[in-house]
Amino acid sequence: MYRRLPDRARALVRFTFDGEALTAQEGDTVAAALLAAGQLATRHTPVSRAPRAPYCMMGVCFECLVVIDGAPNRQGCLTPVVEGMRVETQQGAAVFEDAE
Ligand code: FES
Repeated sequence: MYRRLPDRARALVRFTFDGEALTAQEGDTVAAALLAAGQLATRHTPVSRAPRAPYCMMGVCFECLVVIDGAPNRQGCLTPVVEGMRVETQQGAAVFEDAE
């Protein structure tokens, strides 16, 4: 569905998505790297659990929310991939243990 346009060679960056080892190109955002890897759903809605995919790619729609290194509600389209990053699908609304 998505393919990279011809581009200058960039260094590869390794990360995981739901435990699967993936590679991105240096400078990719998490959302761009996931789409390029064929991973469309980044989160599931809180009510119906419907899968959602990045949409605007510019920080407006919040469809790209993921869990990054254990921190929920991270916008994948605004977060660059870094070596060793652990990205997970966000399941519904984030639960914060210290929230009342
Ligand atoms: S894709 Fe819309 S905020 Fe990230």
